[in-house]
Amino acid sequence: MSAPVLEVADLRVRLETPRGPAHVVDGLDYAVGAGETVAIVGESGSGKSVSVLALLGLLPASATVTGTASFGGRDLLAMSEAELRGVRGNGIGMVFQDPMTSLNPVLSVGRQLTEGLLAHGVVTGRAAARARAADLLADVGLPDPRGALERYPHELSGGMRQRVVIAIALAGEPRLLVADEATTALDVTVQAQIVDLVTRLQAEHGTAVVWITHDLGVVAGIADRVLVMYGGRCVEDGGVDDVFDAPAHPYTRGLLGALPARVDAQRGPGRRAPDLVAIAGTPPPPTELPRGCVFWPRCPVRGDVRCETEQPPLVRVGGTDPRPHRAATFYGREIP
Ligand SMILES: Nc1ncnc2c1ncn2[C@@H]1O[C@H](COP(=O)(O)OP(=O)(O)OP(=O)(O)O)[C@@H](O)[C@H]1O
Ligand SMILES: [Mg+2]
Repeated sequence: MSAPVLEVADLRVRLETPRGPAHVVDGLDYAVGAGETVAIVGESGSGKSVSVLALLGLLPASATVTGTASFGGRDLLAMSEAELRGVRGNGIGMVFQDPMTSLNPVLSVGRQLTEGLLAHGVVTGRAAARARAADLLADVGLPDPRGALERYPHELSGGMRQRVVIAIALAGEPRLLVADEATTALDVTVQAQIVDLVTRLQAEHGTAVVWITHDLGVVAGIADRVLVMYGGRCVEDGGVDDVFDAPAHPYTRGLLGALPARVDAQRGPGRRAPDLVAIAGTPPPPTELPRGCVFWPRCPVRGDVRCETEQPPLVRVGGTDPRPHRAATFYGREIP
């Protein structure tokens, strides 16, 4: 593989919470190549959103972020606010769960798109910007793109708004797209359309994608690699088939539960959108992470005092270097 578009190393985030400081992200490492999709999955509160907001410089000023995030040869975590603003519009596109948070309710769709295009110097002149904006809306599957330029966000359905957000995210021709629960608020048919849209645009433009979701069916449909987070740590990562066919960490096995049949259904026609399977118990609050393995209080296979005292390292359990399948458990199938 050529140099990754994004390479995250030892990312750590400490946030101030009412209950004291919390290590919400505790040492993440991953890389995303051109045209590749890495999915980040895990239960609510595992640190998925914080991990990407940290890369984009969108956390409160009280957050402490360490590690490196190399993007186009530069470290996002070392950039000034002004540099990051440039990268956010241009090099990195963002799509979040609620399209209304990304759209300005008082500006027409056309205004929002053309301003982005002009600001990033993608085109020069209003007429060229409007033409390009209409092309982008056609690209993301909006019917009557010219008419849509005149519409305001509240005049569009949720699925149409999310298409507009994707068009805005793609306007700067980003090398990386970050999507955080981008399809969660949409109904199943629209979800599938948005996933197909991103997959198609990615194939056309070679965009690298970081896709955060609860929905393992979407992961099966979109991801090349998957990273499973629990309690701020990566407990397992690897190629999506390796992880889904042979999950090594008890947490991943729990999440996948009865899933394989449903994942297969997702890959075929009549795509369904299964959610994560419930695991008994709840994740620990980030201010009260256990010593040792973060998952041990809920782990069905623990039985070794080491689990309670030692943090299991992320070791290779399969795959091949430089893209291994790894898991952080004393009960995986370790490959020396
Ligand atoms: N600005 C903040 N200040 C303090 N704590 C925060 C802040 N943002 C998030 N947290 C805490 O950090 C932890 C991780 O939150 P995060 O939003 O990253 O989880 P998530 O994995 O994205 O969950 P979800 O699936 O619900 O979106 C949670 O315990 C959350 O309460
Ligand atoms: Mg989140």
